[in-house]
Amino acid sequence: MRQDHLISASHLSREDIEAVLDRAADIDADPAAFRQRHAGKVLGLCFFEPSTRTRMSFDSAMKRLGGQTVDMGPVESSSVKKGETLADTVRVVEGYADALVLRHPSEGAATMASEFVDVPLVNAGDGAGQHPSQTLLDLYTIRENAGLDDLTIGIMGDLKYGRTVHSLAEALTNFDASQHFISPESLRLPRNVRYDLHASGAQVREHTELDEVLPELDVLYVTRIQRERFPDENEYRKVAGQYQIDSETLEAASDDLTIMHPLPRVDEISPDIDDTDHATYFEQAHNGIPVRMALLDILLSQDDD
Ligand code: NCD
Repeated sequence: MRQDHLISASHLSREDIEAVLDRAADIDADPAAFRQRHAGKVLGLCFFEPSTRTRMSFDSAMKRLGGQTVDMGPVESSSVKKGETLADTVRVVEGYADALVLRHPSEGAATMASEFVDVPLVNAGDGAGQHPSQTLLDLYTIRENAGLDDLTIGIMGDLKYGRTVHSLAEALTNFDASQHFISPESLRLPRNVRYDLHASGAQVREHTELDEVLPELDVLYVTRIQRERFPDENEYRKVAGQYQIDSETLEAASDDLTIMHPLPRVDEISPDIDDTDHATYFEQAHNGIPVRMALLDILLSQDDD
């Protein structure tokens, strides 16, 4: 990887992505070979926002590499409550760890924090900005199930506030992928992401209805409406529940359609899809382990060079 930190998927080249995915595949094939790889190393977990999958899978990934973790714990019981700045927090925690994982409600927080630390820092979500480690596991899942080239993907739901969407869309510009974005008008991709996609020559189309495009899709990536990011609850209510899929929706889909979701889901995917061959979201969440092990392995080894 060209950078020491992982802040935005837009910084990832195809080579960077393939290096992580190939390493993840090696780990999947022989996890025992990596069991002591980073013994004695410590990963610092700084989560200023709720997290289950990301926090636990980074924690588990580090331990499966032979390392350990230190966790800042809930914001309520940290020095943040006493008014400590983010810059001070990460500067302190960098002294306790060989790499940091940061999740924060403010867009741009990871970029700012990375300027204050010398150890590798992974952005595990900055407000409605980016979530690049999620993207790596999303790409791994796509590669395993549908392939990354000659791909037709639909990305549906909250495209405005969904950081996993922003990162995934930007990373997919490295591949021969045509991207269909399906959302209510008010939750279209933000202008800066659309600009980046157009600037990189991506094949992009926007829709308000899934049925316009569903039969063509190899992958449907569904996202939750990010209720916590709406400045106005009434605006949330206007769009809540609008994009839901169930087995009836899928009658028009290809038999090979792969359905993904970064999770947590609210009501976007009916549980009656869970037992079908389309449902790939739990496998996707499990892929967080080999992919985050691979990412940590690469970032921590770079540090040794
Ligand atoms: C996502 C996030 O935090 O952005 N969750 C995750 O990391 N798997 C998606 C979401 O919260 O909707």
